[in-house]
Amino acid sequence: MSAEKTNQSWGGRFSEPVDAFVARFTASVDFDKRLYRHDIMGSIAHATMLEQAGVLSLAERDAIIDGLTQIQAEIEAGQFDWRVDLEDVHMNIEARLTDRIGITGKKLHTGRSRNDQVATDIRLWLRDEIDVIIKEITRLQEGLLAQAEQHAEVIMPGFTHLQTAQPVSFGHHLLAWFEMLSRDHERLVDCRKRVNRMPLGSAALAGTTYPIQREITCRLLGFEAIGGNSLDGVSDRDFAIEFCAAASLAMMHLSRFSEELVLWTSAQFNFIELPDRFCTGSSIMPQKKNPDVPELVRGKSGRVFGALTGLLTLMKGQPLAYNKDNQEDKEPLFDAADTLRDSLRAFADMVPALKPRIEVMREAARRGFSTATDLADYLVRRGLPFRDCHEIVGHAVKYGVATGKDLAEMSLDELRQFSDQIGEDVFAVLTLEGSVNARDHIGGTAPAQVRAAVARGKALLAAR
Ligand code: ARG
Repeated sequence: MSAEKTNQSWGGRFSEPVDAFVARFTASVDFDKRLYRHDIMGSIAHATMLEQAGVLSLAERDAIIDGLTQIQAEIEAGQFDWRVDLEDVHMNIEARLTDRIGITGKKLHTGRSRNDQVATDIRLWLRDEIDVIIKEITRLQEGLLAQAEQHAEVIMPGFTHLQTAQPVSFGHHLLAWFEMLSRDHERLVDCRKRVNRMPLGSAALAGTTYPIQREITCRLLGFEAIGGNSLDGVSDRDFAIEFCAAASLAMMHLSRFSEELVLWTSAQFNFIELPDRFCTGSSIMPQKKNPDVPELVRGKSGRVFGALTGLLTLMKGQPLAYNKDNQEDKEPLFDAADTLRDSLRAFADMVPALKPRIEVMREAARRGFSTATDLADYLVRRGLPFRDCHEIVGHAVKYGVATGKDLAEMSLDELRQFSDQIGEDVFAVLTLEGSVNARDHIGGTAPAQVRAAVARGKALLAAR
């Protein structure tokens, strides 16, 4: 049987066409067509380099670049006929190039393999995705800074074990999310350096006999460095795994943040109001307004953790060099990037619209004996050992529970039942403002410190 009846790119040594189901089973074009722009970018750089290396003539190079540019326009106009029998994005574009420009199209693949081609495409694609994602992180952080600045003086209960612990500034609480996102940003910027290394020129696995000049393609494609080993270049996907690890941490943070928003918008907490446009109703319960966006983000974190686990598992059993297993890297990677980008976008849109219910938060802080530690610290300043103070305040709280009074609502005589060291000046420390203002050091919750942290945050974002 002639090669025409088998795959036109590699059918030469085959004596029968691939089984129709196997062709579909092994094809990746349905999902890897998404790489078309980066595939064409890589091919144009490769052709440009081949001409400089004397492998292609100027006319051939120009015909190839012209053809690829027109193919890109065809794809973007929705006029490209993607063919599953051509397996993947690379062979679809190459076959179309040969349709358009004739045999010169067949010269593009000189000194290259799909193995280094696909590794290059994914890196170029991921580099762009990271750039979009880090912009969304910054936008979300800007929203957090603005809210924190506006609400530095708003007091809410801080929690440990989800029990009221100590009063904190609402702005301070929001800045905790800002810190986490700063680390997520750092991780992605760092990951991008390792994504941005060029495998092109590795060819199938061993390099190529043509006089390629990798410095040229490296420069044209904006890579920071040339991969130093061809076997490694075509096979490892550690850069994609690293991205999924950084994405997983960012999603874990967004998921925790989501959990708070879900709690805080409930009737039981009632701490914040989420604008209607981020919520949906129930088809049966007319009173419902559900915090769908945070709930979905919390749920979607699972997809990204799944991508991380999937890619690690995909990679761990592979001997050098390229194996077809690696075709399975794309869907989880694409999904992880899409999920993180969209989740960040939803949060960046939502955070500036959050409205704290200031009185509800304040009341909750007042009710929970949140200044008990402040009373203990007051007694320590009177010279008592901390452990004794802890016990004294414990008795006062027990009395408060029995009588329904918070510490600040007790009279001086009532308080002095527990220690005669307590004086009139105690009431200044038992107020919510007294409590937060007293935590006046870097990283503390005093409103002055919150404003200083906002200023540091703004400087950080301005330097990006
Ligand atoms: N579609 C393949 C992938 O995603 C491209 C590389 C295929 N190389 C090969 N020799 N079959 O990994």
